[in-house]
Amino acid sequence: MKGIVLAGGTGSRLFPLTKITNKHLLPIYDKPMIYYPIQTLADAGIKDIMVVTGGRNSGDFLRLLANGKDFGLKHMAYTYQEGEGGIAEALGLCEHFADGQPICVILGDNIVEKSIKGAVDAFRQQERGARILLKEVHDAGRFGVAEFDGDRVAGIEEKPAVPKTNFAVTGIYMYDASVFEKIGTCKPSKRNELEITDVNNAYIKEGTMTYSFLDGWWTDAGTFDSLMRAANLVQQTRGAAATPATDTSHGE
Ligand code: G1P
Repeated sequence: MKGIVLAGGTGSRLFPLTKITNKHLLPIYDKPMIYYPIQTLADAGIKDIMVVTGGRNSGDFLRLLANGKDFGLKHMAYTYQEGEGGIAEALGLCEHFADGQPICVILGDNIVEKSIKGAVDAFRQQERGARILLKEVHDAGRFGVAEFDGDRVAGIEEKPAVPKTNFAVTGIYMYDASVFEKIGTCKPSKRNELEITDVNNAYIKEGTMTYSFLDGWWTDAGTFDSLMRAANLVQQTRGAAATPATDTSHGE
């Protein structure tokens, strides 16, 4: 399976932090933001990765990430998204890289605590279709929100005013090669972008969408508050890992 990290856009919600650099190069505690999604893919055994960048600072990604050796990658590729055409448009640029193989896509500002290897391995067993990762949140209206019909995901609404559930669709998506045809049928949304939610709904309509629940904490980092939250979560997790565990077991 190949990996794709989407790190385009202008990061307008983080202005002026993004006036002279790309959002995905900003620090999250002790590392540039883009390190985290790349590490998430590498830890899941995905070693052939394309980064989609954009804006005026795309050259900095090459200087920072080079050939991916620091992450133990076999191959690191880059492409460039012109303008702000949305997540699905950025993914559409990776068709040649994907070369008919299944792909695992992660948004460059999505930071997770735990490994996604279980979900990636489940998708490796899945013959076709797509798999999304869901997380229960308190502010679902900020995200794509899944609704269910029994065990099945019945639809996803993008940033609904009144979310039908608390299950956010995280920015980690796995797709078969038909994703590029599906992107081709998408029309620009109200925010004039090709929405990844429309792509996911196409798989749901086709009956080939599966899902897993994400373990551990998850956050995006595209606003001032979520950027700070991401740094705090990483710092706390590091701190907890460094502190010897206290024995909280009760006598049995
Ligand atoms: C995007 C997706 C949304 C998803 C979110 C995860 O939102 O459109 O469905 O829940 O990423 O981070 P955006 O960051 O473009 O607002």
